[in-house]
Amino acid sequence: MTKPDRIYFDNAATSWPKPEAVYQAVDDYQRRLGAPAGRAAYADALEVENLISGTRRALAQLIHAPQAEHIVFTCNGTDALNMALLGYVRPGDHVVTSVVEHNSVLRPLRFLRESRDVMVSYVECDIPGTVDPEDIRRALRPQTRLIALSHASNVTGALQPVEAISQIAREAGVALLVDAAQSIGHVEWDVRQVPVDFLAASGHKGLLGPLGTGFLYLRPEMAKDVLPSRFGGTGTQSENDTQPDALPHKFESGNLNVPGIVGLGAGVRFIAERGIDSLRQHEQALTAQLVEGLSEISGIQVYGPPHSEQRVGVTSFSVEGIEPQEMAILLDSAARIQVRSGLHCAPRMHEALGTIARGGTVRVSTGPFNTARQITTLLECLQELFAARNVST
Ligand SMILES: Cc1ncc(COP(=O)(O)O)c(C=O)c1O
Repeated sequence: MTKPDRIYFDNAATSWPKPEAVYQAVDDYQRRLGAPAGRAAYADALEVENLISGTRRALAQLIHAPQAEHIVFTCNGTDALNMALLGYVRPGDHVVTSVVEHNSVLRPLRFLRESRDVMVSYVECDIPGTVDPEDIRRALRPQTRLIALSHASNVTGALQPVEAISQIAREAGVALLVDAAQSIGHVEWDVRQVPVDFLAASGHKGLLGPLGTGFLYLRPEMAKDVLPSRFGGTGTQSENDTQPDALPHKFESGNLNVPGIVGLGAGVRFIAERGIDSLRQHEQALTAQLVEGLSEISGIQVYGPPHSEQRVGVTSFSVEGIEPQEMAILLDSAARIQVRSGLHCAPRMHEALGTIARGGTVRVSTGPFNTARQITTLLECLQELFAARNVST
């Protein structure tokens, strides 16, 4: 029997496949150039430096950042979040966050609570996973230094009202860190329209770059208040042993992940060419088809906002009588459909949804290369699994 084609629905973890241009860019760098960036004067090294600057500029354009130097390359979204949280929050400060957050926000905050006497308030969400901005306002205290919030939930896909939250942060004179891991590349981001102090993002999810890429955008006026957490060679000011103050070098020590960043540049250009609006329409159509189809299968409960404009292409569901893990294995073995199961590194979110005891949810997350036909196959497969189960019980 021939193996069925892989149907990959784990794009919220990392996107696959990548655009052809991403594979080509990585391959070209590895085979033809292979030199470090920003450290040498020979022509191939300068070409590499130009490629790195090109990705930086493409990211700055994507989010409408005024200066490309304020885009700092990181290993992933987690690294960018750690950079902002550990570098900006001081002992005795208060941070407002939410139960929606991923462990890449929750764990650094837990570390700050335990090691630096930082106080943290966790604002609740409603069942679709949306935070009320007024709850954020109410949680502010005189010692609040930062609001740290994800833009889109990696469990229900719910988009947070960042505009209102940005307004609240500005009125209160509190910094805002947005975790855009699940929204970048999926929805338009404009830091001039929605001012943020820090925007942390993965490069390997919605931006379609290789694993091992991410970035942190720092609002120009904020960078001086952030301490670096890594020190080392930057290829600049090599005559002294203090870390340079200028961005991006203040936060980019050691050799960069050049193959990853070059691939990320190709991913961002692919998105710019396709246009976020058209990618979003595709994602919304797939999500609407999926949510409607799941809602018609009895025994399945779907989580997340009812309207596709209130969410990204991340949908969680639970199945009566079947553990999420078992469901994921069944789908893979029946039709090579690859979904995520469990808590998705967001334990407080599952507590809020009431899904902790049943081992979390099954999560389907789409990307630009998923098709309506693949969603239909998933829905048909679920129906067949249900029918088989009903016959055997
Ligand atoms: C909401 C959210 N924040 C942060 C991260 C961490 O991103 P990365 O995998 O790039 O470290 C993830 C990853 O799934 C996420 O979903």
